[in-house]
Amino acid sequence: MEPLVLDSKTRLLVLTGAGVSAESGVPTFRGMDGLWENHPVEAVASPQGFEANPSLVWRFYSQRRAGAADVKPNPGHDALVRWEEHLGDRFLLATQNVDGLHTKAGSRRVVDMHGNLFRTKCADCPREPFADTTVHPSGTVPRCDGCGGRLRPDIVWFGEMLDPGDLARIGEFITRKDGTRLVFLAAGTSGAVWPAAGIVDEVRSARGDTWLVNYESAANTERFHHFVQGLSGQVLPTLAKLV
Ligand SMILES: NC(=O)c1ccc[n+]([C@@H]2O[C@H](COP(=O)([O-])OP(=O)(O)OC[C@H]3O[C@@H](n4cnc5c(N)ncnc54)[C@H](O)[C@@H]3O)[C@@H](O)[C@H]2O)c1
Ligand SMILES: [Zn+2]
Repeated sequence: MEPLVLDSKTRLLVLTGAGVSAESGVPTFRGMDGLWENHPVEAVASPQGFEANPSLVWRFYSQRRAGAADVKPNPGHDALVRWEEHLGDRFLLATQNVDGLHTKAGSRRVVDMHGNLFRTKCADCPREPFADTTVHPSGTVPRCDGCGGRLRPDIVWFGEMLDPGDLARIGEFITRKDGTRLVFLAAGTSGAVWPAAGIVDEVRSARGDTWLVNYESAANTERFHHFVQGLSGQVLPTLAKLV
């Protein structure tokens, strides 16, 4: 197999999805059956669900925070840390995962496209989101120090917009004109969730080389120049040639 060459003329954009955390024991989206305690996922992951029952939402995210607090990064996360150390500012990691495992592994140039389980924001005022590991297992809804309103997890829920600043950071990396060659690698993502699924086409428009590492074929596999089928924790550690 042809290696993914990461040399001084290369800039690399990586997109990760739930599959990259699967080998750490974090369930993927499909594995959850879209249900939690017999509630449809929209009840716990949409603004309407939060309006209807914020207490249920906090019980759900308290359980996810508690579950994710104990999990450890796997060799797939570690490989991305080594690539970043090698490439520096010629590396950017966009993740759809909210579990914080890339940061725990040591990745620094990370865009949390879908938010972060360990950050909280106010549903009622524009204060900055803040780091938060507290859990509210009995469903107490925490209150904002600033306005007294309801706090909520800093997660991009169904029907919500992604942060425009995050999308701009990814877009600027793709279109950067510094004489380097653009390479894009997506790993552990079903290619069904937008706008992440469209990044491959943005990269192709910028004449970048595109790689997919996934356990199964994804919804957009044919858009990639290279498809390496396998588990990210096994494939990523040996895929790249750092020169
Ligand atoms: N870890 C997390 O933070 C987490 C977990 C579940 C869901 N989510 C959210 O749910 C949505 C799901 O979209 P998605 O595309 O990220 O995930 P997805 O669950 O829709 O798809 C995961 C993909 O990864 C593949 N896969 C599973 N195990 C793998 C492995 N070990 N190595 C390589 N590939 C593997 C599967 O074949 C599948 O195609 C996202 O919006 C995400 O934010 C996040
Ligand atoms: Zn507030």
